[in-house]
Amino acid sequence: VRPDGRGLIEVRARGGPYFVHVGPGVLERVPTAAAESARGGRVAVISDDRVGPIHGERVAELCTAHGLEVTYLTFRAGEASKTRKSWSILTDQMLDAGLGRDSCVVAVGGGVTTDLGGFVAATYLRGVPVVQVPTSYLAMIDASVGGKTGVDVRAGKNLVGAFHPPAAVLADTAVLSTLPREERAQGLVEAFKHGAILDEAYFAELTSVTDELLAADTTAATAVVSRSVQLKAEVVENDEFEGGRRQILNFGHTIGHAIEAASDYALGHGSAVALGMLAEAWIGEQTGVTSPGVGGVLAAALEPLLDPGEATVEASDALAYLSSDKKARGGRPRFVLLDRIGQVAEGDGWTHSIDDELVAGALTRVLDRS
Ligand SMILES: NC(=O)c1ccc[n+]([C@@H]2O[C@H](COP(=O)([O-])OP(=O)(O)OC[C@H]3O[C@@H](n4cnc5c(N)ncnc54)[C@H](O)[C@@H]3O)[C@@H](O)[C@H]2O)c1
Ligand SMILES: [Zn+2]
Repeated sequence: VRPDGRGLIEVRARGGPYFVHVGPGVLERVPTAAAESARGGRVAVISDDRVGPIHGERVAELCTAHGLEVTYLTFRAGEASKTRKSWSILTDQMLDAGLGRDSCVVAVGGGVTTDLGGFVAATYLRGVPVVQVPTSYLAMIDASVGGKTGVDVRAGKNLVGAFHPPAAVLADTAVLSTLPREERAQGLVEAFKHGAILDEAYFAELTSVTDELLAADTTAATAVVSRSVQLKAEVVENDEFEGGRRQILNFGHTIGHAIEAASDYALGHGSAVALGMLAEAWIGEQTGVTSPGVGGVLAAALEPLLDPGEATVEASDALAYLSSDKKARGGRPRFVLLDRIGQVAEGDGWTHSIDDELVAGALTRVLDRS
């Protein structure tokens, strides 16, 4: 974070570097970024029907005022819209509007919008630039950085997509004030994950400003989004296509995905990953990989983010999901384990293979919270 209270992070991608701007008011920089990406002066602003009326339309107006010709498109809010069907509707609408190769996409919304809008941009006329305008913590901290875009299909989430790094990311932390508190908590889990795997001091900072973050205080949010983006960027830059160390970002996710699926997606991704981190910390402690006490530190830190009234999940269902996933991937699930807070254990290519019994024990332990 710089003296003006805003963060600016450079991310090096194979196709060239891009900047992530973080802070209250950076939305006003969207037209300049869009104009740089759209030589023809035409942009498609894509938003969902919840974020659209509060922030998407404003972005469209700012672009119009800047002299850009805007095609404003929305889709129904929610994960259920992250589909090939939405992709085909949006790309058809862009074709109907006559947007050419010299246009760009501006995606304004949460991770669903940045993933879907990014995939539209990756494929439209074989690829036009995308300016990402994330409006949820999750999209700011995680989804809009790293270049992964895509849609969900019947066989699973995010299985059809493309690597398409953005031309620029504008994360305006003032827009978090309209994000429901429950969604704030969900997204912040990924920030704690960044601290847990990469930076102990950051982890400690997160625990001390959790209330401010949940209240969408822009000073706290700007510092945290900036640091998380920086941490994720460092990992992604050195392993853009996820062959090696980028896997450490999956801490909490092997079990988290299983819990999320076992709840039929009634449980939010953040809550599932929080439980996944606790389970994987327990596994790490049991196998002697993770320092004793790490699970307790994580549990205390994540407690304010967990909603006690959340959907209950059966350990057996989560276990069944893990073994079906094992078949689908042609091998045993691999686990990222911590050495301590701020450090991942190197293991075998940053992951570990774990006995089914231990996994079952971990699931029972974290899911049996009554
Ligand atoms: N590409 C990646 O690397 C990556 C990483 C992590 C997650 N993801 C994806 O991100 C998606 C989840 O992101 P999400 O939680 O942001 O979901 P989302 O886009 O569905 O947003 C959650 C809800 O909050 C609303 N919302 C967002 N910003 C708002 C604001 N400022 N004010 C009011 N309402 C607002 C949305 O309309 C939606 O109803 C998943 O599809 C996941 O797969 C992608
Ligand atoms: Zn995640």
